[in-house]
This record gives sequence, structure tokens and C-alpha cells, in this order.
Amino acid sequence: MKTKIIIDTDPGQDDAVAILLALASPELDVLGITTLAGNIPLEKTQSNARKICEVAGRKDVKIFAGASRPLVRQLVTAEEVHGDTGLNGYDLPAPEIPLQPQNAIDFIIETLLQEEIGTVTLCTLGPLTNIAMALTREPAIAPRIKQIIMMGGGYFEGGNITPVAEFNIYVDPHAAHVVFNAGLHLTILPLDVTHQVLTTKKRIDAIRQISTRSSEIVAAWLSYYQRHDEAKYGTDGAPLHDPNVIAYLLKPELYSGRHCNVEIEIASDLTMGETVVDWWGVTTRAKNAYYMRDVDADGFFTLLTKRLSHLPS
Ligand code: BDR
Ligand code: CA
Repeated sequence: MKTKIIIDTDPGQDDAVAILLALASPELDVLGITTLAGNIPLEKTQSNARKICEVAGRKDVKIFAGASRPLVRQLVTAEEVHGDTGLNGYDLPAPEIPLQPQNAIDFIIETLLQEEIGTVTLCTLGPLTNIAMALTREPAIAPRIKQIIMMGGGYFEGGNITPVAEFNIYVDPHAAHVVFNAGLHLTILPLDVTHQVLTTKKRIDAIRQISTRSSEIVAAWLSYYQRHDEAKYGTDGAPLHDPNVIAYLLKPELYSGRHCNVEIEIASDLTMGETVVDWWGVTTRAKNAYYMRDVDADGFFTLLTKRLSHLPS
């Protein structure tokens, strides 16, 4: 039995690698890809998702457009990281795969109501606006979700967009607040994990040496993507955030963490979007998340490189 997933995303080069990893993995059944505004505006994220599926040779994947802005705040984007297209580093032609006419939020609701209860996993790689809107519009979907595995937040490592906030949560903290309080089975891959997963030269070379068109594209994307964070953090390589969500699904033994309470700051301007993680259990607040803290980074890149080599050349 394949694991049924919906990927909710704002691609972005690291989102793109996550999508390719999912499409290269026979254990996963990608029911649809839902897009939203985040790294770049919605018009580009939906188009990028369609291009990425074409890189994987998968014109059958259904791609939907959802939220064009956060619930309450103005949209903040990250072109300084991803470039103006979101996929700078390798130019791809305009996509042939059509955008589905249905709205992403309606697709999420309809799919969760139609599929057997507890069988669909939501993999979120961007702000949580689409998921929060779906939960608010149709609360009956909450108990039907098997789990949400998300890239978002950070605690021990600090933030990447403010001193305390991670980008995906910061862009739509109100949406994150809804999702974290919906009584769901949540697994979080935060900056504390992703900052251990660096796109070193050796690791990019290993991907390039697969010598397929898709591996050449991934290597070019990552070479562009890493320049910003290498300068920012002084590291060899950049954190490869979003593919950790898919890698966790495929090989959870690569990761370790603990169940704890995680709350989202939505009141303070100074700390807006902070994920407040009660790692040490110093409050009596209910445990609402499985918060990952460590990863076997070499194991992650071995898995990623091997799976990417399965994509058609
Ligand atoms: C997250 O922000 C985006 O720029 C990346 O795609 C990732 O989802 C990391 O903070
Ligand atoms: Ca992302």
C-alpha cells in the first residue's frame, strides 16, 4: 500500500527537490500538489510546481493554486534566497501541464472527505495558509488527516527571517496558530534539523554525477540557492530545508526528536511567528507536536541522491 500524500508548497529550489524526491519514491502516492504564495507570489509558485513535475517526467500530477496572501498579514517573500523566478539557477520552459481549475483549498477538503479516514498525509513545505483555510472552512476534515509533516519553525537554532522566527511560520503566523491548535498529529522538521543538512560541494557533485537532465537541473538549482546562505552563515553549503519532510516519511529513523508543546507567537511584533517549544516540559501545556531536533545528514543525502537517480533522464 502506497502512502497517500498531498504536498502543499511554494517552490522554491528546496521545495522543488522535495517534490522530485517524492515523485522518485515508489512508496508515495502524490494525490496532488497544492501551491500558495510564500517564497514568491502564487502566480509563480503554481507555475513552478508544474515545471518541476515536468522535470520528473510526470505530466499526470494534479497541481492546484490556493492562497495568494496570508490570512491577516501582508505577504513577505524571499527572492533574495530563491531569485526572482523562485527557481533561479536553471531556466525551464513554460509548463505544458495545465493548472487544475479547482482551488487548492477545495481540493484539500474534497480529497480528505473522499479518501478513507486517516489515510492522507499532508506534507507542508511553505506557509500554512491553505491548510488553515481548509480546516476553518470544513472542520470535519481535521480527524480525517492521518498526519501533517511540516517544514517550519526553529528554536535552539534561532530564526532565519527574524532573530526568533522561521520563514514559513513568520509569513503566516495566524495560519500556523490555527494548525497547531487543531488537535492534529503534527511532525515538525524545524531549522534545528535543516541547518544540519548542508548542500556541500561534495554532495552537489554527487547529485550532478548521476548525469541525467534532472540531476543536472537539481545541481544547478542548488548551486544558485546556496550562495545566499553560505554568505549568511559562513558554511560550506546551505540548509536544504524542505526535502526533510519527504525524507522523514521515507526513513523516519534518520531523525530524532520528542513530543512536546509548541505554540505560535501572534501578538508581539518583536517575536511574531516564533515557535515556542516546551522541550523541557516546563509548562503543563498539552503536547501537540513531534518536534525533530537531530538528523543523520549523510544518511539523508545518500537517500536523496539514490532516489534522484531513479528519475527518468
Ligand atoms: C523555508 O523557507 C523557504 O524559503 C524554504 O523553501 C523553506 O520552506 C525555510 O525557512
Ligand atoms: Ca518552501
